[in-house]
Amino acid sequence: MDIPTVDKILGKFPEVKGNLIGILHEVQNHFHYLPEEELRYISKKTRIPITQIYSIINFYNRFSLKPKGENEICVCLGTACHVKGAEKVLDAISGNLNIQKGESTDDMRFSLEEVRCIGACSLAPAVVINEETYGQVSPKQVTTILKQYE
Ligand code: FES
Repeated sequence: MDIPTVDKILGKFPEVKGNLIGILHEVQNHFHYLPEEELRYISKKTRIPITQIYSIINFYNRFSLKPKGENEICVCLGTACHVKGAEKVLDAISGNLNIQKGESTDDMRFSLEEVRCIGACSLAPAVVINEETYGQVSPKQVTTILKQYE
């Protein structure tokens, strides 16, 4: 368990109760997922029941209880992206990295998720890697895009 890191994150939020989502975001950004021991420590330190913390985690797709890759790839499969061939883009990424959606590469460099409409329908099909959005992605572009993260 990495107590100093969690303490540092908690220290950024003097008012804990209204900022639980922000705290969880920071913890996930650091560890690339939400480790159970750290969550229990946050619960103890903030006196927020662990059940309440888990109900928030389960409500937001963004949070993960499983370790994620250093680079998080989200392929939008919302209607506009689906119509413009998002499944083929997902297949190309999946084939390139040899993982299925919901999985991470063995070296933990990448994880692959599907999302529903990220609000960039005019860019369909859209892919988000970490904070970067790629629009009108074709399966052929996948190798070039992923190379930037190797
Ligand atoms: S459906 Fe993909 S961004 Fe809206």
